[in-house]
Amino acid sequence: MPPAPLDHTAAQAQRSLASERNRQPILEVLQRVLPASGAALEIASGTGQHVAFFARALPQWTWQPSDAVADAFGSIRAWCAQLGVANVRAPVVLDVTHQDWPAAASAGWDAIYCANMLHIAPWAACEGLMRGAARHLGAQGQLLTYGPYLEQGVPTSQGNLDFDADLRRRHPAWGIRAREDVQATAASAGLRLVQRVQMPANNLLLVFGRA
Ligand SMILES: C[S@@+](CC[C@H](N)C(=O)[O-])C[C@H]1O[C@@H](n2cnc3c(N)ncnc32)[C@H](O)[C@@H]1O
Repeated sequence: MPPAPLDHTAAQAQRSLASERNRQPILEVLQRVLPASGAALEIASGTGQHVAFFARALPQWTWQPSDAVADAFGSIRAWCAQLGVANVRAPVVLDVTHQDWPAAASAGWDAIYCANMLHIAPWAACEGLMRGAARHLGAQGQLLTYGPYLEQGVPTSQGNLDFDADLRRRHPAWGIRAREDVQATAASAGLRLVQRVQMPANNLLLVFGRA
């Protein structure tokens, strides 16, 4: 059965200032690396600001938002209603650490997009994301991850070091990931890093394809 269309009724749009700052630079990378049309699964949609913004700017794409928890699904709906987008499906609960992803998230996606999750989740989320992406991307599909990373030989900003310490204080299993570890986990799932894009405020956007 096809996933339900998005219900545009009511609910409060939650704002993340970081999403407001980074959505335009991320969009510019999406416009460069993605084909003109396709179907995308967003992992860890959070407030829904990204998915609504990208759906409006990329009308030839259909977006499937998801998150491990449904708490902010009302906010995703509210953002989509505010921006008047019709190419976003109803959000689904998807915890990447679960072996089986829900049917609505199991298409052969042209893109899987995941921002700012890897450092605010245990390492098992990175392993689950890579395994799931390898299972659910189409043959030419791309996995895009956005966020802060540590990298060998690249000095880390004080802001990222402070952020990492704060994350680890909040939860011992959280923390900014080493890009090399993420890349190795992707490789063991059958994905290879095809692009590393330097983004504002010491973030990276990584693009993976099938090995
Ligand atoms: C910092 S928010 C990022 C939200 C949004 N992508 C953004 O960039 O603004 C982190 C999100 O990751 C989600 N998350 C954490 N663990 C997850 C998991 N195992 N599977 C899917 N989502 C997860 C949280 O529920 C939360 O919405």
